[in-house]
Amino acid sequence: MIKKALCALPIVLAMTAGAVASANQAPEDILDALAAKTKSPYLTQSPQNRMMMPDNPSYDVAEDGGKLFKQKRGPKNASLEQCDFGKGPGVLKGAYVELPRYFADAGKVMDLESRLVHCMKTLQGFTSDDPQIKRRHGSDTDIMKLMTYVAIQSNGMAWNPSMKHPQEKAMRDAGEVLFYRRSGSMDFNCATCHTNDAGARIRASVLPTIKSKEEWTKAVSWPAHRVGHEHTRSSQHRVLECLWQMRYPNIKPDSDVNIALISYWTDVARGQPAILPDLKR
Ligand code: HEC
Repeated sequence: MIKKALCALPIVLAMTAGAVASANQAPEDILDALAAKTKSPYLTQSPQNRMMMPDNPSYDVAEDGGKLFKQKRGPKNASLEQCDFGKGPGVLKGAYVELPRYFADAGKVMDLESRLVHCMKTLQGFTSDDPQIKRRHGSDTDIMKLMTYVAIQSNGMAWNPSMKHPQEKAMRDAGEVLFYRRSGSMDFNCATCHTNDAGARIRASVLPTIKSKEEWTKAVSWPAHRVGHEHTRSSQHRVLECLWQMRYPNIKPDSDVNIALISYWTDVARGQPAILPDLKR
């Protein structure tokens, strides 16, 4: 299985690439270390979920994604092996923790999902109307499989989104404004639910606070298997759901608001180890 290979690989990486200490740890071990350090009610809220992490169904989703990634598909009959996620064509290890970033070939800041779509269009010739691109959410979609495959190759590495290009900085700053801007019929902002003291709940859910880097790295660790949905979900799906809770209309996939919020939330988690794949309630 992919998981076993990935567990062995990062040990080599940790020695050669100066990766963070967690880069040789399984996702559940990274979580345990964060929880032991902080005793955070959010990080320790579900021993049951913790127990399921070694058998996270997202590993199977990633394995399907690996097959799709290498398969020649689309009108151009090409694989995605030449897709550049920021570290050069085909370089997947550590690419995800440096996203979102500016891509000169597109003239835009892109997150993992929008970059993947860009490659499926430019390399493979798919269009926005093709189901391969149109169907975004759920473990059975191509997008979710491919994203999970790419993302888990950054497990344990420190979030380190690029902030060199002025547009990267502008995107992150826009995300910060959006996070704190109250609007909508209930006058919510993201901060209403995500800046409370540790342990605040909405019904059964302990809310992560953006004020704790250790909590926040788990909060932004997507793709993750959501037990309640029985699906692997993405960062953009989480944005959609939180905006829905704020009584906003459904956000469009790959929109700048999505990317700005993800830029900001990743920047806040900077330096903390990514838990990939995570498993959530
Ligand atoms: C009305 C309260 C509320 C608001 C406002 C809200 N969220 Fe959330 N958010 C939640 C809840 C509840 C969860 C956890 C859901 C669960 O555990 O099932 C969550 C989960 C998250 C997570 C993932 C946490 C995890 O456990 O993996 C992130 C990241 C997040 N929200 C970001 C945001 C952003 C960005 C905004 C603003 C666009 C926002 N939230 C607005 C209630 C809210």
